[in-house]
Amino acid sequence: MKKRKAEILPIRIYGDKTLREVAEPVDEITEDIQEFIEDLTYTMYEKDGVGLAAPQVGRSLRIFVIDPFWFKEGGKKNPIVLINPEFIEFKGEVDSEEGCLSLPEIYDKVKRADKVVIKGLNEKGKEVKYDAEGLFSRSLQHEFDHLEGVLFIDKIPKLKKIVHMKKLSDLKKTTDENGINVGTISL
Ligand code: NI
Repeated sequence: MKKRKAEILPIRIYGDKTLREVAEPVDEITEDIQEFIEDLTYTMYEKDGVGLAAPQVGRSLRIFVIDPFWFKEGGKKNPIVLINPEFIEFKGEVDSEEGCLSLPEIYDKVKRADKVVIKGLNEKGKEVKYDAEGLFSRSLQHEFDHLEGVLFIDKIPKLKKIVHMKKLSDLKKTTDENGINVGTISL
């Protein structure tokens, strides 16, 4: 593959239609897909995220990247790419705070499985499997939800969600007539 410079992809914000679609499986890891994964990974780091899913940058594909610990480990980057991921196991339950690059300035506690086992393909098309717990497990579940058109705010009980309604409706307002929402600051 020829050398290219990765690009920052504009992040879709709450209200955007792609965030609500069930993403399509990837049937071939083409050069276009490889370049897209490079950009997705670069964007995650540039936006200080611990995970980013393809629908969050407007591509309805079953791909995400995560690196739950890079900011704790002095910026040491160790991205994990998963293509067509599938959960094999869920264990336990834990309540912990979450945020999302597509829901700026909204944070709340979400109940998720404590431990998960997931499998999928990496960026080279090799089958990979991870046993995850803690933030790793939470990030996998959060990013997987993006592939199903689900946002963490959907998992919050209705009564608790009321406190976020004003922010949510403000975020939605920047959606254009095509259902695209890159927010007020677009790169
Ligand atoms: Ni998210």
